[in-house]
Amino acid sequence: MSTQGQAIRCKAAVAWEPGKPLCIEEVEVAPPKEHEVRLKVVASGVCHTDWAYLYETGAALRSRPYPLVLGHEGAGVVESVGPRVTRFSPGDKVIPLFLPQCGECDRCRSPKTNLCKKNWANTQMGVLADGTSRISCRGQQIHQFIGVSSFSQFSVVPDCSLTRISADAPLEKVCLLGCGVSTGYGAALNAAKVEPGSSCAVFGLGAVGLAAVMGCKVAGATRIIGVDVNPDKFEKAKEFGATEFVNPKEISKPVQEVLVEMTDGGVDYALECVGNVAVMRAALESTKDAWGCCVIVGWTETEEMSIPVETLLLGRTVKGTYFGGWKSVQSVPKLVQEYLDGKLKLDQFVTHKLPLEQINTAFDLLKGGQCIRTVITL
Ligand code: APR
Ligand code: ZN
Ligand code: ZN
Repeated sequence: MSTQGQAIRCKAAVAWEPGKPLCIEEVEVAPPKEHEVRLKVVASGVCHTDWAYLYETGAALRSRPYPLVLGHEGAGVVESVGPRVTRFSPGDKVIPLFLPQCGECDRCRSPKTNLCKKNWANTQMGVLADGTSRISCRGQQIHQFIGVSSFSQFSVVPDCSLTRISADAPLEKVCLLGCGVSTGYGAALNAAKVEPGSSCAVFGLGAVGLAAVMGCKVAGATRIIGVDVNPDKFEKAKEFGATEFVNPKEISKPVQEVLVEMTDGGVDYALECVGNVAVMRAALESTKDAWGCCVIVGWTETEEMSIPVETLLLGRTVKGTYFGGWKSVQSVPKLVQEYLDGKLKLDQFVTHKLPLEQINTAFDLLKGGQCIRTVITL
């Protein structure tokens, strides 16, 4: 029986308030409006940002919309499309995108950036273009985390925040291209623009950092130094191409000093994949003067980073990147194809697979440092 045009009742993990475990609820997902698509979410990675948004407290918390459905690293199949949607049909395999590519704004028309402006303010407040969410529970509106909400069996997204991928793609793997893997991989290739023969340091060897290591290797770096306080991550990082390792907890001086000594003056590129301002500074200070480049990949909302001016005056640069610099709609299907062609690793990131009901266990695994990625099946 077709569900087109009707509300769908399904399961979702609802975050009723910050700091509390998610609750599995029956929710109602309204049909898509103009330029919107409703998808059946099949799989979703659990990203550090989902956890941080729920559990990291601070001043920013006040501006976060609750209740909400988290999840922004999903993959699924189109169930139905709203009016004026021309690029999608029911049955298409798709990846929802927290960063759209409308193709029309000044950002989309510039080759310099991927930061499409379309629906930005609404997305940050957990609603779609018309100022409302399509998900509700017992009559109450449930916000959509950065416009996606992949911890729900169905969701509705704007057609510029969705991309069609190969029909051959295994959704429980390629979902990781909706955030973590694309972000780290692109940070090395698009933001740092790592050059052959160069030396790199990657701080934080979670999924984002490992993807950054993979990007450094693909770009031809000769030295890739993995830095993590959890030495259990080193073996995996070696598989992805890391050549050396430093555990800041096992050295008696600041990690940047050790890296500068190891590389005779500093690395060419440092990538911060933790989301900690002290680590960001250490990453910058581990780069070579004259041309060292530090890329900030890790997410933090309100904190400030302090940098001695001389660090930059001598020629280093520090830059940030969002979603690895990829123009989302056009790039994600290409990354999926790279995976299908065996050029990009995804399987090695997935260490755990759990049903939606065990979403809180996935958060425990992430926080305990026991997983790289848990993929939730819906
Ligand atoms: N120095 C080095 N590594 C650290 C430090 C530190 N001070 N603190 C934590 N780490 C390591 C953790 O041990 C872990 O291996 O950073 C890694 C972070 O990995 P995950 O928690 O799996 O996070 P991930 O999903 O990879 O995201 C990393 O990118 O998108 C953002 O919000 C995300 O800020 C987060 C970052
Ligand atoms: Zn745009
Ligand atoms: Zn993420």
